[in-house]
Amino acid sequence: MSNIISYEESKQGFSWDLAKELMNWKEDEVLHIGAMCSDRVCSAGKGEKTALVWAGFGDRKCSYTFDDLRVYSNGFAKLLGDLGISPGDRVCIFMDKIPSLYFSFLGVLKFGAIAQPLFSAFGDESLEVRLGNAGTTAVLTTQKHAKKIRKIRDRLPALKHVVVVEGAESKLKDGEVLFDVESAPRVESFTAFRAESETPSVLHYTSGTTGQPKGALHVHGSVFGQALTTSWVLDLNDDDVYWCTADPGWVTGTSYGIIGPWVLGTTQCVLDAGFTANRWYQFVQDNRITVWYSAPTAIRSLMRAAGEPTRQFDLSSLRHLASVGEPLNAEAVVWSEKALGLPFHDTFWQTETGAIMIANYPGMKIKPGSMGKPFPGIRATVLDLESHEPVGDSGKVGLIAFSPGWPSMFRRYWNKPDIYRSKFVGAPTDAEPDQLRTNPDLWYVSGDRASIDQDGYYWFVGRDDDVINTGGHLVGPFEIESALIEHEAVAEAAVVGKPDAVNMEVVKAFVMLNSGFEKSDQLELDIMNFIRKKLSPLAMPQEIEFSEKLPKTRSGKILRRYLRALEWGEEVGDLSTLEDD
Ligand code: WT7
Repeated sequence: MSNIISYEESKQGFSWDLAKELMNWKEDEVLHIGAMCSDRVCSAGKGEKTALVWAGFGDRKCSYTFDDLRVYSNGFAKLLGDLGISPGDRVCIFMDKIPSLYFSFLGVLKFGAIAQPLFSAFGDESLEVRLGNAGTTAVLTTQKHAKKIRKIRDRLPALKHVVVVEGAESKLKDGEVLFDVESAPRVESFTAFRAESETPSVLHYTSGTTGQPKGALHVHGSVFGQALTTSWVLDLNDDDVYWCTADPGWVTGTSYGIIGPWVLGTTQCVLDAGFTANRWYQFVQDNRITVWYSAPTAIRSLMRAAGEPTRQFDLSSLRHLASVGEPLNAEAVVWSEKALGLPFHDTFWQTETGAIMIANYPGMKIKPGSMGKPFPGIRATVLDLESHEPVGDSGKVGLIAFSPGWPSMFRRYWNKPDIYRSKFVGAPTDAEPDQLRTNPDLWYVSGDRASIDQDGYYWFVGRDDDVINTGGHLVGPFEIESALIEHEAVAEAAVVGKPDAVNMEVVKAFVMLNSGFEKSDQLELDIMNFIRKKLSPLAMPQEIEFSEKLPKTRSGKILRRYLRALEWGEEVGDLSTLEDD
């Protein structure tokens, strides 16, 4: 039997207090993600239970108990105090999925600082924008990634400390400290910062259509949303062995790759060794994984890999599969039922929502291709594209919107109050963030289009903006265009997503060259590498089309929508209206 008894019944009389009941959490207890994921699990008698099973490239592997998690996160918390960092400071965690990432995430929170995890494949410019916006005080990184910080450190006046958690003393540069938590003296006790529900916890950056990425700020009270959705949607229980394939540089990797599972005291597995189908199946087999949360791109890659997985591997431990990040096509659900004996359950949410909002629940009929239904306690709808009035289950396509007030909702965009306000339909122009996020009469608009069928199932249609979703990762065209024009050969650039069989979309750039530069394959490669290094492999254009002229509106804005429609073979529409944008 699953944790969610029945979807319809769970909606009746729903209250988020059910999360507190689930966790057996009392109002006078410490409300603190760092402590709840480690100290509290140990106090409940599970200190010796395995918290983390980790594997890396080759045959590197190790495992840690909840008591290890407690002690090593204490170690990081103490370090921040020793360095003179203050609670509320932003501390960036910039490393591969190594164990110290997980320890330091909880340690930063225990100290009362705001954890700012950034994807380790980010280049120096992606980092600079995000560390600059957040006014980050310290970066925790590894020797491998420290050089990217060195390049930009001079331009980040707020950045006081760079801590290298894995590397050699002799390789450090001025102003860097080495701290290996596993060989440092054990810190048996550390009193976690007295957080309250509204105390900031995690800052995740996410890309939009215009402007640079925005930092979505979350709070410790989000834990109730993450815990209940982990239980009801991912169906995690005490005896499960769980694998979330996401990197904590993105919100899935923290909400469901750290917080939700560990507050429930579940054993998690982490594989920090890239993707091959056999390696993944082997990992499931070796660890007897029971619940698996992954992404459509990975599932499509598994589909393409030859062979029948259940013949080659013993995957009989698996009992529940879920997916997030991009549309999960019906074929993928049908394939997994056949190849793995279980369907993937699609879930929909965002960095901003902090937790799952729409899902296919265990025990509920899956309509392959649909994202499922809103989580009990979440009031969701689809708003008309023009009037912004709810269109309900008419089947009409509109904007997915949620009524504010769920626990894990983001509390603001860091230093961008106007953009935060613009996400709420009907918001008064002078409203403060706190008035918006608690006002159930407003709608928070997600930026995605969908329709609702007569059974209340949501069907994803596409994004309502120009953001590119490549393999479940959002990349902002503006950020890439800005980086492109820093290349000496590039005069102007427009970036759109083009269809891709595995990654759904990949980045394509249209580039106008400066005079004196000629298009060539070499130049194309050079520009691609320039972006890969500056931003990330995700942002790197897979194709560059050199053009004499880029289509623009009369006011001079590049018409990405037109270019995108060409790539997707869609109706371009009436160009004269596009030009008036
Ligand atoms: C965007 C959010 C929190 C999940 C990880 C990404 C797209 C997410 C689905 C889905 C179709 C999906 C949306 C959304 N997306 N889940 N099940 N079907 N699209 O978080 O980076 O904030 O991205 O990912 O476009 O707005 P994110």
